[in-house]
Amino acid sequence: MLTPSSAIINIVKIFYSLVAFVIIVGAGSILIFKKKTLAPAIPKSSSVITTVKPASFDKTKYSIDSPGSIWWIVNKKRPLPSNYVPNNLIVPDVALRLDKSAEQMHLSSTIAGPLKQMFDAASVQGYKLMLASGYRSVAYQKQLYDGYVAKDGQTAADKYSAIPGTSEHQTGFALDVGRVDHKCELDQCFGSTPEGIWLATHAYEYGFIIRYTQGKETITTYEYEPWHLRYVGTDLAAELHKNGLTMEEFFGLN
Ligand code: DAL
Ligand code: ZN
Repeated sequence: MLTPSSAIINIVKIFYSLVAFVIIVGAGSILIFKKKTLAPAIPKSSSVITTVKPASFDKTKYSIDSPGSIWWIVNKKRPLPSNYVPNNLIVPDVALRLDKSAEQMHLSSTIAGPLKQMFDAASVQGYKLMLASGYRSVAYQKQLYDGYVAKDGQTAADKYSAIPGTSEHQTGFALDVGRVDHKCELDQCFGSTPEGIWLATHAYEYGFIIRYTQGKETITTYEYEPWHLRYVGTDLAAELHKNGLTMEEFFGLN
């Protein structure tokens, strides 16, 4: 039988046991919590090493054979269909060398927007560019070519003027660019002017390439023409620019 004093002793014992239990559980919880929060975070991704392979360029995205395709390759060995005329010729909203009624002031509507963006960007840098010669019909190219042959002979003319029916100008995707002050117009010195250097550096950003580059004369079959631009779209233009390749080299022609 419990005496009142032993009952009090038991209550005190139980009280101290409870206090000890609370202290032990509390301290344990604090230790576990600290361990968790102090442990360095291990990023999940570091446990797997992945190699990202750059996507290879899709050379079949557009046709190089179809008239009207932005990748259509036209050269001495790849003439246009006879009397080909693009069905979307327009006069672009840029500075023009001739009156807007002139055939040469027309281009495929596909490239009018990118051309304006490019000329506007050049203008911001202080470079004032104009469309010197765009679309040319086969009849007009014949007039030009025959004149050059009469003046310089066919061997020389073939190095800078396309035989009628093989000019990129007939596609509507090519143009000659000039400075509005006409300095170095259709002359190789254009390539050394700030305007020519800007074009060689930035044209690809707008989808254009310098089609007949220095050092590639045996591949393009034409002398260096720093003023002759061809629209191919930004993907291909960037690829050709980055690798310093002509269309013929890139697509394995010749
Ligand atoms: N000047 C370029 C090659 C053309 O006549 O098309
Ligand atoms: Zn040209």
